[in-house]
Amino acid sequence: MKAEEKKQIYNLLKTVSLGINGYTPAAFDREDPVFTDDFEKSSVSSNQISSDPTEAAVSAPEFSAQTSSSSLEHALPAVQNSRKTVSLDSIASKIHDCSRCRLAGGRTNTVVGMGVENPLVLVIGEAPGQSEDQTGKPFVGEAGQLLDKMLAAIQLSRNQNCYITNIVKCRPPQNRDPAPQEIQACISYLEAQLSILKPKMILLVGRIAAQTLLKTSAGINSLRGTFYQYGSIPMMATYHPSALLRNPQLKAPAWQDLKAFRAELLKIAPGYESSFVQE
Ligand code: URA
Repeated sequence: MKAEEKKQIYNLLKTVSLGINGYTPAAFDREDPVFTDDFEKSSVSSNQISSDPTEAAVSAPEFSAQTSSSSLEHALPAVQNSRKTVSLDSIASKIHDCSRCRLAGGRTNTVVGMGVENPLVLVIGEAPGQSEDQTGKPFVGEAGQLLDKMLAAIQLSRNQNCYITNIVKCRPPQNRDPAPQEIQACISYLEAQLSILKPKMILLVGRIAAQTLLKTSAGINSLRGTFYQYGSIPMMATYHPSALLRNPQLKAPAWQDLKAFRAELLKIAPGYESSFVQE
């Protein structure tokens, strides 16, 4: 189906829904979702793959060595389109041109994401900070360096088997939390990225990513460490590396989360860790 046809159907349903309900249901809250032509993905451009390996020194993180079990306890409705629709390049160019919310006015660069084209894991953070705004790359500051260590501890890396992005693609002023309307304005870009990347698992880092994807206002302490589903994709939340930098006591529970995540990933991608190369 063509993007234009989808848009027409969407607008028709939105109008009918408004007529029936007397208000616009939440499903239609988003302005200007990304509609794309359906076609099979043929090739992938070079800017989808990081050409700039992280400079972070990677060493074993100071995590505890406890184990933890995992279970698929919660179910969320599937929101993915199973057909390949759009390229990461076209999403990136839409994001570069985006002015859907006020964050656009304050940005130096949009931060689309970086990683491999067929990631085992999609890592989703909150929003770009200052370093990310300056470089256009996600998680390159101090928190990003810790994130790289956390991922390396379970044989994951943005250069080898992950893609890293954020809930919002522009930096909020003074690194404040992205506002609900900013998240709402940006979320269809993440959904489009997910529909292309089709990761085997999703790792949500921090409260904002967890609350957004799990559609809840519950705190990170209660959300972390449990497996949820994004459509058919297992998804877990853990603490944001910034939280670990502020409070090192959170490293032990974060390590438990990561070990449970690795155990689940090994079920889906047996032996994935054997091809990991320490960077
Ligand atoms: N924190 C985030 O959540 N994302 C980034 O890209 C950097 C810091």
